[in-house]
Amino acid sequence: MSQKEENGPADTDNPGGVPRDQPDHHAGLWSTLVQRADDLTGTVGADHDDASARSALVAFLRGDVLAHLESEERVLYEAVREAGAHSLVDALELDHRCLLNLVEQIEKADTVMEAALSSRALVVLFALRMEKEDTIILPTLREAGVDVSALLDRMIVRMATDYDSHFTYF
Ligand SMILES: [Fe+2]
Repeated sequence: MSQKEENGPADTDNPGGVPRDQPDHHAGLWSTLVQRADDLTGTVGADHDDASARSALVAFLRGDVLAHLESEERVLYEAVREAGAHSLVDALELDHRCLLNLVEQIEKADTVMEAALSSRALVVLFALRMEKEDTIILPTLREAGVDVSALLDRMIVRMATDYDSHFTYF
């Protein structure tokens, strides 16, 4: 069964594509991320070395999650810079670097326990990252007069154009 089938019926208005709405996109990323991190944690203490849970998590992070972050860098961060909030972009870039570092730690960890601990840290950081987007970044842009709905639409279209083949969770 494909990942799309596992996660329910396809969006008939947007077959096989990225959700056209940012909250849906975050919700899809979040639920799959938590599921795959839980799958990895579930292998801790197993009497055999099953690498498939770690591989599935890393593939999702290097595909869906990084595609999302790269699209944000190019569309959202640019709008934040234009609004003059340069230090906010610096903070977002720091999150991004930490996320990349954690992906690498999950990939290279010598034990499943170490990989699982890094995956829990990544889940928390990603939750904070989404929260910042909703409670700090988007309100900052609205206050600066940016049409946030149009901006998010642009970002979703960009993801669909540049990264559609990277997305696995629909
Ligand atoms: Fe996001």
